[in-house]
Amino acid sequence: DIKGFVFDLDGVITDTSVFHSQAWHQVADKVGAPWSKELEDGLKGISRMDSLEMILKAGNLSDKYTEDQKVALATEKNTNYLKLVDQMTPANILPGIKAFLDEIKDHGYLLSLASASKNAPKVLQKLQLTDYFPKIVDPKILSKGKPDPEIYLKGAALIDLKPEQCIGVEDAAAGVESINAAGETSIGIGDKQTLKDADIHFENTADMTLANIKKQMTE
Ligand code: BG6
Ligand code: MG
Repeated sequence: DIKGFVFDLDGVITDTSVFHSQAWHQVADKVGAPWSKELEDGLKGISRMDSLEMILKAGNLSDKYTEDQKVALATEKNTNYLKLVDQMTPANILPGIKAFLDEIKDHGYLLSLASASKNAPKVLQKLQLTDYFPKIVDPKILSKGKPDPEIYLKGAALIDLKPEQCIGVEDAAAGVESINAAGETSIGIGDKQTLKDADIHFENTADMTLANIKKQMTE
């Protein structure tokens, strides 16, 4: 039986995935790496330094920068990203998410957050959702990022549940892969082709309700 939900943040609870993309696009332009839809999608769910590495690889530029220069580029991206985060309000919560969080809380499900972002606590604060997530996986302690299962396994452990008692909620292919590898039930929200490995799929966050989840689980 499902007893808890492990949530991704960016692109699921709020549309910060657009802000991350915008800030990375600036970095790509700066270093002269080609920007594409594939790269943009591939960056979703991936840690800050791994994202930079993907961008540099796309331009065959990995060897052109020292470690210090790479850290400087990632820091610049984060500074630009945080400028966008600073302007966020609860209006940036994606459609239906607040209602869904209330619905699952009311039904006694446990909740944790499995975001790769070191800025997750700050984003939750801007959205005024901090109280919904007393349990947050700290990405600093991870040895491997998504698609490795580690982050979703930790998300389940934080709420004292077995993976098979949890549903993981994602917008990224790497995230769905991580949930599946952890042995949890996966929900993918967004493009169906990109999220083809998800056990349950919704086109929009507004479609995610307990009734709609149950419908797809019994299909
Ligand atoms: C993920 C986002 O949630 O967090 C990625 O999908 C982002 O786009 C990653 O790069 C790391 O975020 P941060 O805020 O620690 O740079
Ligand atoms: Mg995401």
